[in-house]
Amino acid sequence: MSFEGKVAVVTGGASGIGEATAKLLAKKGAHVLIGDVTDDGGARVVSEIEAAGGSARFLHVDVAKASDSKAMVAEAVSTWGGLHFAANVAGIGQVPSRLHDLDEKTWDLTMNIDLKGMWFCMVAELNHFLASGGGSIVNVASGAGMRATVGQPAYAIAKAGVIQMTRQGALEYAKDNVRVNSVSPGLIDTPAVQALPDDVRAMYAAGQPNGRMGRPEEIANTIAWLLSDEASFVSGLNHVTDGGWFQMSPK
Ligand SMILES: NC(=O)c1ccc[n+]([C@@H]2O[C@H](COP(=O)([O-])OP(=O)(O)OC[C@H]3O[C@@H](n4cnc5c(N)ncnc54)[C@H](O)[C@@H]3O)[C@@H](O)[C@H]2O)c1
Repeated sequence: MSFEGKVAVVTGGASGIGEATAKLLAKKGAHVLIGDVTDDGGARVVSEIEAAGGSARFLHVDVAKASDSKAMVAEAVSTWGGLHFAANVAGIGQVPSRLHDLDEKTWDLTMNIDLKGMWFCMVAELNHFLASGGGSIVNVASGAGMRATVGQPAYAIAKAGVIQMTRQGALEYAKDNVRVNSVSPGLIDTPAVQALPDDVRAMYAAGQPNGRMGRPEEIANTIAWLLSDEASFVSGLNHVTDGGWFQMSPK
């Protein structure tokens, strides 16, 4: 799997799954533009990629703003002369609630970043791919988008929307040489999850089929494969990478 000389954008690349994805694509030869709201994290990841001999750049991108997504694509194209791959990873969880006591602010914030933000990124990326002759997109959804999830209604609904938006994109642009897939991670040991209390993390880990959480690199591997030419006949897939969690009966 080589990305030698190709150009990729990775949203959410300043941390966790996005960071692992940006580093893997750069290691495999891609020029990587990281778009994220966390400036210090983005700068750190760029310097770590460069120290390892890779090529990367950071741009402050709030995926909830259409103009930022457009700027992200424009920056990648003006810096490296094109864009071939997009990993839309940026996302947030929600303050726990049930549907009836979910407040409108939480609903709007979650939808604006996790669903509308994904759409804004896809629009900017697709506009480029339609003009340039094609490309490959991977959206990060979640196992939470595939079945009801305690305490996470807005997040789960947004991620279900990401899975459907992926299928929609795969169908609409199949004849334009554009592939669109999603990855639904299970529980992955990222800074977002590391912020949870130790006992909660231990409980989550114990609930996994193999007794451990996934590593960000294990999701990055799936993302890179789906982006790559090795997956040239794969489109519209929601790839579940979760150590078998989805196959378990909910407790
Ligand atoms: N960690 C898990 O267990 C898990 C499971 C399923 C799905 N996911 C999904 O994976 C993705 C990455 O999650 P993670 O666990 O690596 O989290 P993380 O918090 O480590 O990283 C998320 C990154 O997204 C960035 N971000 C947040 N809002 C943004 C915005 N408006 N614009 C641009 N960037 C923004 C953050 O600054 C951060 O760098 C998310 O979409 C998340 O929903 C995570």
